[in-house]
Amino acid sequence: MFGTKEHLRAEGGHLLIDGVDVVEIAEEFGTPLYVTSEERLRENVRRYREAFPDAWIFFAVKANGNLALLRVLAEEGMGADVFSAGELSLVRMAGMPMEKILFNGNSKRTEELELAVEAGVRVSADSKDELLALSEVACEMGEEAEVAFRVNPDVSAKTHPKIATGLKTAKFGIPWQEIVDVYKTAMSLDGVRPVGLHCHIGSQILETSPFVEAMAKMMDLAEKVVEIGGKIEMMDFGGGLGIAYTPETKAPTPADLASGILPVFKAGCQKLGISPRMILEPGRSIVADTTLFLTKVNVVKRAHVNFVGVDAGFNLLARPMLYDAYHHAVVANKADGAPEEKYTIVGPICESGDILAKDRTLPKVERGDIVAMLDAGAYGFSMASVYNGQPRCPEVLVNDGRGELIRRGEDRSVFLSGQIVPPRLLK
Ligand code: LLP
Repeated sequence: MFGTKEHLRAEGGHLLIDGVDVVEIAEEFGTPLYVTSEERLRENVRRYREAFPDAWIFFAVKANGNLALLRVLAEEGMGADVFSAGELSLVRMAGMPMEKILFNGNSKRTEELELAVEAGVRVSADSKDELLALSEVACEMGEEAEVAFRVNPDVSAKTHPKIATGLKTAKFGIPWQEIVDVYKTAMSLDGVRPVGLHCHIGSQILETSPFVEAMAKMMDLAEKVVEIGGKIEMMDFGGGLGIAYTPETKAPTPADLASGILPVFKAGCQKLGISPRMILEPGRSIVADTTLFLTKVNVVKRAHVNFVGVDAGFNLLARPMLYDAYHHAVVANKADGAPEEKYTIVGPICESGDILAKDRTLPKVERGDIVAMLDAGAYGFSMASVYNGQPRCPEVLVNDGRGELIRRGEDRSVFLSGQIVPPRLLK
C-alpha cells in the first residue's frame, strides 16, 4: 500500500508509523504535528553509506534543522552542508565534526566568513569576489581557510524551475569556463588554500543522467585544474536525488546514483592520478520519507468542490503552494477505508492558494478525522512560518514503539517576541 515506505502500514483501520498508531500520537501530542521515524532516518543514511562506502555524506541542513534528527545523523557518521551561520551553529550543537562541514552560500556576510574561519570549516566560494573576501578575512585573523569552488556546470536537472540550480541562468556558482582562472587566483592568494570543486545541480531529480553529465563536466574541470598545478583533495557533487512523492513515481536509489556516477569519477581520478575525497550533500532523500505531517479536519464543505478544512496550512507545509508539489494524503483513522469521494484539502490561512492537496479520492471525510500528509520530512518544518497568526507546531520522533517530543509547539507569545511598542504609542 505504501510502496517502498516499509515504515508505514495500515492496521485495524489506522495508519501506523514504525508500528505506532498515528491516531494515538495525534491524540497524545495534538495537531498539527510532524512525526518522524528514527529507524527510517538511520536506514536512509545507511543506504547512502553502502552505495558510497568511500564518500563523505553531508546532510543538507536546510531540509530539516531539528536538533534531535541532526544528532541521529551525526551518530550515523554524517557531516553537513550548511548555508548560513544559523545552520552552522545547529550542526556544531549536534556534535558534527568540523572537518565534515562545508559552508555553502551564494551571498555570505563578512561575519559568516569570519565564523567559518574561526570554526575551521571549509568554505565553498560562490564567486571570485567571495574568494577575495575570504582571503582578506582569513589574513586579518591570521588563519588559512580551506576553500572549494562552487561550479555552475550549466547542466539541466530536469526538475521544477524553482529548484534547478545548475543552469547557466541560475544565481549559483562560478561559470564553469571561469573556474581555472579563479583557482589560479586562489593559488596566489594568502589566507586561503584551494582544495577542490563543488557543484549542486538541483533538487528532486528523478533521473541519474543529469548527475552523470555534471560529473563528467566536473572531471574535465579537475583535469584543467591539475594542469595548472592545482591540488584537488575533495570533490563535492551536491545533493538532489529525488523521492517518490506519488505512488506511481519511481525514484532512483543511492545505489542507482552510484552506478551512474562512480565509474565516471573513478575513471577520471585514475586518468589524473588523483584521489580526492568524494562528498555528497543529500537532504530530501535522507529525510523526506521519514516524516508524516498530521492535521485534523475542522470542517467538510460541499461547495464548488468538496473542501476539507484542516488545522494547518501552507504556513506549516509550504511545498504544495510554492512548487505545486504533491504530498500523498491518507485519512489516518480510515487508513484502509475504500476511496469514495474526491476532496480538496485546504488550510486555515486567508489565501485561496492555501491548498495542501487537490482532487484526492479518499474514504468519506468527516470533522475530527486525522489527515496524514506523507513525505513531509524535507523542506516541511524547516520552511514553516507563523504567517496569519498561526504558531509553529511540535515535532515528535518515533523510536522503540513510542513517540518522543523533539520540539515544543509555539504558543501565542511568538507573535509578541521581539516586538517593541514605543512608549509614546502606549498613552
Ligand atoms: N547542497 C546544496 C548546495 C543545496 O543547495 C541543496 C538544496 C542541497 C545540497 C540538498 O538538495 P536535496 O538533496 O535536498 O535535493 N525547498 C525546495 C528544495 C530546495 C533545495 C535547495 N537546495 C523543496 O521543497 O523542494
